[in-house]
Amino acid sequence: MNFALETLQVLAMSIYYNLEALVKLFIPSRKKSVAGETILITGAGSGIGRLIALEFASMGVTLVLWDISQDGNKETVRLVKEKGAARVHSYICDCSNKAEVYSVADQVKREVGDVTILINNAGIVTGRKFMDAPDSLIEKSMEVNSNAHFWTYKAFLPAMVASNHGHLVSIASSAGLMGVNGLADYCASKFAAVGFAESVALELLATKKNGVKTTIVCPFFINTGMFDGAITKWPIIMPILEPDYVAKKIIRAIQTDQVYLYMPRILYLVLALKNILPTKIGLLLGDYLGAFNFMDAFKGHGKKD
Ligand SMILES: NC(=O)c1ccc[n+]([C@@H]2O[C@H](COP(=O)([O-])OP(=O)(O)OC[C@H]3O[C@@H](n4cnc5c(N)ncnc54)[C@H](O)[C@@H]3O)[C@@H](O)[C@H]2O)c1
Repeated sequence: MNFALETLQVLAMSIYYNLEALVKLFIPSRKKSVAGETILITGAGSGIGRLIALEFASMGVTLVLWDISQDGNKETVRLVKEKGAARVHSYICDCSNKAEVYSVADQVKREVGDVTILINNAGIVTGRKFMDAPDSLIEKSMEVNSNAHFWTYKAFLPAMVASNHGHLVSIASSAGLMGVNGLADYCASKFAAVGFAESVALELLATKKNGVKTTIVCPFFINTGMFDGAITKWPIIMPILEPDYVAKKIIRAIQTDQVYLYMPRILYLVLALKNILPTKIGLLLGDYLGAFNFMDAFKGHGKKD
């Protein structure tokens, strides 16, 4: 080990990687084919999960769709078949229940085979100030939005590692990168999801085999109904995202092995500023962006007028 030599090497590599990133901004990365892959999507019965399934439908994949809602699942199966999906398997699975995740995972392995792309997408939101949130909903948020990811990884990652082939996708949230008032339990669960996915990704990198890829997705609000009523102060810079756009970006991120996907792009800047600016300026900017009032008029799925 030589301090000066290693430091020089790191500097040289940093310059190289910066140039590489710059080039990639202008020349889009090549997309890998997903034909032949077995893709499991949790929470496929509506919203982003359903749209991801629809995007994959015509790509020659086997789809394994999990949801707690039978009707939601049935409708997604109908829609993906309509779009040309030939191999579709749907299962009712309550992802908040570890035993159920393991038992449905075993059924999938017996009936379909090994999963090669795992998309942890199922999610719920309490949408209340922390002290008003019932314990049961706080626990449920942790179980669905983060703990479920542990159990699906335990079930499906070993086969990916054994064949050195696969992709783990975590649909987290911008609320997994920054605290939001009115979303304390949701943020906790999404921070956990991000920390977990990032750590396992590092464990995989440390094995020096590079066949199992990882993608962490952190979107701002999406117009799926889950966050109905949530407000953005300046839609021009922080728009409520359109579900189709989000689904397409996720598919592209998977096909190009993108490790982090934040939407909208301004989130990369907001996050960097949060970490480098004095706290008071951070709070000033947060206030300017309306971040303290995002949830003031939240209705969500459950509280339609
Ligand atoms: N909608 C947004 O504004 C937004 C923003 C950032 C991140 N996200 C995340 O994106 C993901 C998808 O959200 P969406 O907007 O499509 O929401 P959605 O409510 O439309 O879909 C969530 C799906 O998960 C299923 N689900 C809920 N609990 C489950 C359980 N215990 N087991 C299995 N399935 C379960 C639901 O039945 C539903 O089909 C979630 O993880 C969410 O946290 C959403």
